[in-house]
Amino acid sequence: MNIILLGPPGAGKGTQASRLEADRGMVQLSTGDMLRAAVKAGTPTGIKAKAVMEAGELVSDEIVSGIIGERLDMSDTAQGAIFDGYPRTAAQAASLDSLLEERGRKLDYVIELDVDEEALVERIVGRYTCAACGAGYHDTFLRPATAGVCDVCGSGDFRRRPDDNEVTVRTRMAEYRAKTAPILPIYERRGLVRRVDGMADIGRVTAAIAAVLDGQ
Ligand code: AP5
Ligand code: MG
Ligand code: ZN
Repeated sequence: MNIILLGPPGAGKGTQASRLEADRGMVQLSTGDMLRAAVKAGTPTGIKAKAVMEAGELVSDEIVSGIIGERLDMSDTAQGAIFDGYPRTAAQAASLDSLLEERGRKLDYVIELDVDEEALVERIVGRYTCAACGAGYHDTFLRPATAGVCDVCGSGDFRRRPDDNEVTVRTRMAEYRAKTAPILPIYERRGLVRRVDGMADIGRVTAAIAAVLDGQ
């Protein structure tokens, strides 16, 4: 199964994608994570993307569709992919169709995480991740069992994203509204969209997505 998780910054795309990966053996394809890895490694893509990401604007369609295409050529993605943060424009949506078709695959669902934008700012400014294993946490909503120690790997080294501040978040929201939300009707016409309440508890959102994937 191949699915898209669609929703504004902080909607819970990454949180839900990593749960689906753990529960169902699907592979999370987060263009945001891939770009952050490229920035960290200082690759030519990373050098181009860094300032754009820090401003909260969108990286070019060519770059992101290029990295998704490379990733789809790796055999693990044949088990099923969760597109997290891609596509984000009409051009990217068209590229994804071609990339899947060329590989004999198809899109099964577009899960729209329905959220209240104002609450998202709180989610984003409180977010942090384990620097060692990537596990995600939140100051209020998802704290490690022992303060300062990662539940998954025991590390005490945590990071916050440079674009997770209130000013940049507003730009990211505006980009979502202007360029990403307009792609929903493309998928609605194809009958692929399933709307899930993204304001519910994390576990309830996971259960609602599972119900969609299991055809319930
Ligand atoms: P990207 O990394 O994709 O960021 P984003 O879309 O802004 O989304 P986030 O990762 O901020 O939110 P999320 O939905 O994953 O939420 P999360 O699960 O972490 O992109 C970053 C940048 O890269 C872009 O601005 C752009 O520059 C570039 N880029 C990436 N892809 C691109 C593309 N395709 N085209 C062009 N440019 C691209 O949850 C947030 C927090 O809330 C967490 O702390 C979590 O614990 C908590 N939380 C989650 N769910 C719940 C819940 N149900 N209740 C309470 N708390 C919750
Ligand atoms: Mg994310
Ligand atoms: Zn960890």
